[in-house]
Amino acid sequence: MESLLIKHAQIVTMNTQEDIITGDIFIRDGRIEAIGTALNQSLADRVIDASRRTVIPGFVQTHVHLCQTLFRGKGDDLELMDWLKKRIWPLEASHDEESVYYSAMLGIGELLQSGTTTIVDMETVHHTDSAFRAIAKSGIRALSGKVMMDKGSEVPLALQEKTAASIQESVDLLEKWHMYDSGRIQYAFSPRFVVSCTEELLKEVQKLSAHYNVHVHTHASENKGEIAIVEQETGMRNVVYLDHLGLANERLILAHCIWLNKEEKRIIRERGVHVSHCPGSNLKLASGIADVPEMLEVGSSVSLGADGAPCNNNLDMFNEMRLAALIQKPLHGPTSMNARTVFRMATIGGARAVGMSHEIGSLEVGKKADLAILNLNHFHTFPSYDVDPISRIVYSATRADVETTIVDGKVVMENGMMKTIDEPHVLKQADASIKRLLSRTTIAN
Ligand code: GUN
Ligand code: FE
Repeated sequence: MESLLIKHAQIVTMNTQEDIITGDIFIRDGRIEAIGTALNQSLADRVIDASRRTVIPGFVQTHVHLCQTLFRGKGDDLELMDWLKKRIWPLEASHDEESVYYSAMLGIGELLQSGTTTIVDMETVHHTDSAFRAIAKSGIRALSGKVMMDKGSEVPLALQEKTAASIQESVDLLEKWHMYDSGRIQYAFSPRFVVSCTEELLKEVQKLSAHYNVHVHTHASENKGEIAIVEQETGMRNVVYLDHLGLANERLILAHCIWLNKEEKRIIRERGVHVSHCPGSNLKLASGIADVPEMLEVGSSVSLGADGAPCNNNLDMFNEMRLAALIQKPLHGPTSMNARTVFRMATIGGARAVGMSHEIGSLEVGKKADLAILNLNHFHTFPSYDVDPISRIVYSATRADVETTIVDGKVVMENGMMKTIDEPHVLKQADASIKRLLSRTTIAN
């Protein structure tokens, strides 16, 4: 494998001291072998001159749906249950092998171009192997799994599955893809949300997650209508129910967590459950605003995700960081969520959520080389003199400022050009795919 030297960079390390230094990063066999000044250039197969550039740990997005990228613009201005029933479920039901593949490639292209190097992804009921193939080819780091839905009303026939079949298909995918490419790909069980899953299925997922030591990724307490259904069906609050089934532990990632009571917040903290905060999606679906400052204050694990393209409508961590900070300020005051807190959630916080904070999330010797090189030399990010680089990144920078993205020591995007994805081909196939899907489904208004 090639070795790489990134020279003369401003390095935002996000190590425990959160050091920001100027120097070089030497990468070999996918890992950071040295960080220092004037590292020996002759050892490297390739040198990237990063003078006047800022290097950051790659972003970790802990909640996305690659299978929904093709539905961008098809779910605007709706609230969650209508959005699912009228648009998302019919569209997911019409997916085929090829459309899932190009939906994933479209999403991954956007993610890598905007500096995200790791994702926690929830696919649809069928054709998940296609998404794994796209993930494998693209080079992005991912935890992914097929969505599980063995109950619910107004679910299209093609998404309705039997409990045993859902579990069997999940285990088959896990056996095939978990720890692929030295662990770059991992499997995560993905029951959609309590509304879509029987107790039998959730109990089995709990057992399998413990048996295989893999994550469980689901939605919880995103919408008031959703938690009312859960309470009516189980007699319990959503997170209390998940805890009752033994699912609340450090392998659980819960997207959203907006409508929680005191007991649910206590369960999340005490069990080490990871919350994925998705501010863009929460605003667009009119879901609400999660009390992230309070969760962080008590030491809960909170990271960030863009959710799916039809509820955001981008997969851009710069948007999510900015929103995560801004939406809290009118409610809880100007210091309730500062740039550094948000940047931590976007990097090392996400790494912690996926159980990989010893491997990714910061730029430190021995860790995997997952990083982005930013060019902040623009009107919109200047002046630089005496400005905290993290303020510039969170409040001023945009996705267009990402010049190079590296995952596992491999350059996957450079000067905006994808190295692992044929961009014009994917754009063309994305349009062809959504056209095909729309021709075989009717979408309600
Ligand atoms: N709840 C259940 N399914 C979904 C989904 O696909 N997206 C969002 N945002 N929430 C959900
Ligand atoms: Fe979601």
